[in-house]
Amino acid sequence: MRIIATPGPTHEPPYVREALSAETSNPDLDPEFMTKYIDARNMIGEMIGARGDNVVIWMGEAMSGLEAAVANLVKPGEEVISLSNGVFGDYFSELVRRYGGRPRLIRWDVRHPVDPDELQEALNESEASIVTMVHCETPSGVLNPLREVADAVKRSGKLFVVDAVSSIGAVNIDVKWGIDVLIGGSQKALNVPAGLTIMAISDEAWRRIEDCKYEGFYLNLLNWRNLESGFPYTHSEPLLNALIASLRHIMREGLDEVYKRHIDIRNRVIRAVNAYGLTLVPASMEWASPSVSAFYLPTGINDGLLRESMWRKYGVMIGGSLGELSGKVIRIGHMGYTATLEFMLPTVTALGMALMDFGLSINLNNAMDAFMGGSKS
Ligand SMILES: Cc1ncc(COP(=O)(O)O)c(C=O)c1O
Repeated sequence: MRIIATPGPTHEPPYVREALSAETSNPDLDPEFMTKYIDARNMIGEMIGARGDNVVIWMGEAMSGLEAAVANLVKPGEEVISLSNGVFGDYFSELVRRYGGRPRLIRWDVRHPVDPDELQEALNESEASIVTMVHCETPSGVLNPLREVADAVKRSGKLFVVDAVSSIGAVNIDVKWGIDVLIGGSQKALNVPAGLTIMAISDEAWRRIEDCKYEGFYLNLLNWRNLESGFPYTHSEPLLNALIASLRHIMREGLDEVYKRHIDIRNRVIRAVNAYGLTLVPASMEWASPSVSAFYLPTGINDGLLRESMWRKYGVMIGGSLGELSGKVIRIGHMGYTATLEFMLPTVTALGMALMDFGLSINLNNAMDAFMGGSKS
């Protein structure tokens, strides 16, 4: 069996594959499609504490959600604060610039999380109405303290826009902490192919969207608010079927169990790869995301060649990184279906074998002991 252990798109579970191949009709004309859509919205709502009718699921990769959030919420010339410790956090401020806002980037080191204690003053003195942040910076595997930052943002009376693309489904999120727009994608811990964006929008954010009067067409969120006359654009039934299959699976396992499983697997993967001598990118284990682990490569080992060899020789695909970590870091996605012993034991083993092939002296037994040694971290 080949294993896709990248931080999204992920290995497809059999129930997702089956749902993708189910017979379809015409989403614009078949009333049953709307029932399915509402079902999916409600399950997402249950997962993140949102009202189902405040959830939008549309066709388009998750980037379209980030872009839509900025396009629909930012007024020309206004300041928008982007809290960032990586590529996707920075990307928000670039979007703000492109949509005519004034980006103010508050930056942390890629190995550290956004620090809620350091930002209150900046938030309080800024005239900005919107603050953006990424929950899990996938390129570094750092998980930002969403609840604490949401508290700080709410104390300053601003709207909070959050990219949760690589955390939704793997980490507990409740939009009632103070998240006004939450953006998720289909291809990470939800294990569906790329192509669906999920957005949860608060009542306050909807009011702001109405006020902003964004004139764009496809990304106009207001088109997706009231679906009484049907969908604004053609939806994808196979992707929606797959999302529903995935959400039902998650709900059957239980959200608490799913989140615990991710933490347990993260701890095992980190212990084993540390035993190979590789350093975790997050400067502290407590900041490591339950969905993706990033490690610095030892000097002299070429990222691309190592990953290619793992894939060709051992049938396991892992990721490289982006931005300033590109070429220096490998990433293992343990997301949803792949956050299990069944997937991660062979993944970690293949990494060890490949590192040995590249001349690193490592002790596989020690790493396996570390992996199997329970969830102590
Ligand atoms: C944190 C984060 N945001 C946004 C995206 C973009 O998602 P997509 O590739 O679906 O556009 C990614 C993809 O890796 C991501 O990790």
